[in-house]
Amino acid sequence: MKKIRLGILGARRGLSFLRLAVENEELMLEVTAICDNAAFRLRGDVEKYNVRLFEDFDEMLKSDIDAVMLANYFHQHTSFAIKALKAGKHVLSETTSAGTMKECVELCEAVENSNKVYMLAENYAFSKIGLEMKNQYDKNKIGEVLYGEGEYVHPINAPEFNKISIGDTHWRNWAPSTYYCTHALAPLMYFTNTYPVSVNALSIERDKMLEGTVKRCDPVSVILCRMNNGAVFRLYGWNSPGHSVWYRMHGERGSMEAPRAYDGGYFGNGMLRISVDSWLTEEGEHHTSGYLCDWPEEYKKVGTSGHGGGDYVVTKIFSEAVKNNKSPEFFDVYKGVYLSAVGILGWKSALSNGAPVEIIDFKDKEMRKAYLKDDLSPFPDSGKPSIQSSLKGERVPSEEDRKNAEKIWNEIMNP
Ligand SMILES: NC(=O)c1ccc[n+]([C@@H]2O[C@H](COP(=O)([O-])OP(=O)(O)OC[C@H]3O[C@@H](n4cnc5c(N)ncnc54)[C@H](O)[C@@H]3O)[C@@H](O)[C@H]2O)c1
Repeated sequence: MKKIRLGILGARRGLSFLRLAVENEELMLEVTAICDNAAFRLRGDVEKYNVRLFEDFDEMLKSDIDAVMLANYFHQHTSFAIKALKAGKHVLSETTSAGTMKECVELCEAVENSNKVYMLAENYAFSKIGLEMKNQYDKNKIGEVLYGEGEYVHPINAPEFNKISIGDTHWRNWAPSTYYCTHALAPLMYFTNTYPVSVNALSIERDKMLEGTVKRCDPVSVILCRMNNGAVFRLYGWNSPGHSVWYRMHGERGSMEAPRAYDGGYFGNGMLRISVDSWLTEEGEHHTSGYLCDWPEEYKKVGTSGHGGGDYVVTKIFSEAVKNNKSPEFFDVYKGVYLSAVGILGWKSALSNGAPVEIIDFKDKEMRKAYLKDDLSPFPDSGKPSIQSSLKGERVPSEEDRKNAEKIWNEIMNP
């Protein structure tokens, strides 16, 4: 079989996929092109690889590629995905699939009108422990889910934050606290094969935590999602202190949870705990159990790939999807836009102090048209009608905050 020729947009996160492809022949991917319009990103390490470098996405699209990997700015993936699909390329998109509700619908339409694969590169579902939670859920170990919890808490100090948030309008400086909910919610959706039908959210603002940055947004939020089977999931993320990548589910028979403690790596120590109510256990089944998870046979080669192996698994799923020309259910365009919608509509809810906001079924082509009128965006470079990024309205960074940030941006851009 011929390798899939991949062009990558965005030479920061995007380079993880370049390395993965180079180091893992079995992924059947050959990165032939990389595009970034910031000249400093195309210098250094990236020049060592045998790939064509582009500054313009349209030019890269014209090159000899079968698929694109979108690792450009968080809120700007949709227009590039649509362009690529129209040009007959498969798309692997970083989070988030869509930056506005209108884009959610436009993306669904573009994928439906193409004969190409679209996949959201959501990697947190596919850790070793995540795959085992899915395996046990599918075996009905805890029964149908009633309640789930997902946390993606990624604390980062001001200097490190500024290194990855270059420029006043950079999305990390403006993304409302609900927007980056994918890593908390997507694994729960994957384990339980459910999707959200409504969302309530509360944001927590704390200016003190933004010192040393030009951030305008609240650090963290709590989101409640009602799922299509009636279950409720609680999400917490993403810039609160206290690292936590953690998932828990209660079902009709019992519960299971990933390790709470950050004592053995990014996803904890790998020990899955399961509890089945004693009066519901079957013969030979334990009331409680705990064990270290292992990779299933097909992913044994995961090695040290990023995000607990999730980057490898995503790439393998994408590569197989392209081979079969069929988008994988996790995470196809519908699952992708549900995740975006929870972030966007969750923010609408947070601005109404947690009022519930319904999420329309994205497979209903008539109903979803209602969203074509909603193009609100909190990102100042979006060119769209704007919505505030913090509960408090607009935070004005101090002169000192700005100087701090600019010093670091200059160091990164002129090493
Ligand atoms: N799944 C994960 O674990 C994970 C981890 C990190 C980042 N991400 C995602 O990856 C994406 C990129 O994030 P990042 O951390 O690399 O930082 P980033 O957003 O600062 O990097 C984006 C890169 O794309 C380039 N770019 C933007 N618009 C462009 C255009 N029109 N033409 C050419 N180049 C363009 C920028 O110059 C920059 O180098 C985001 O969507 C983020 O959410 C995901």
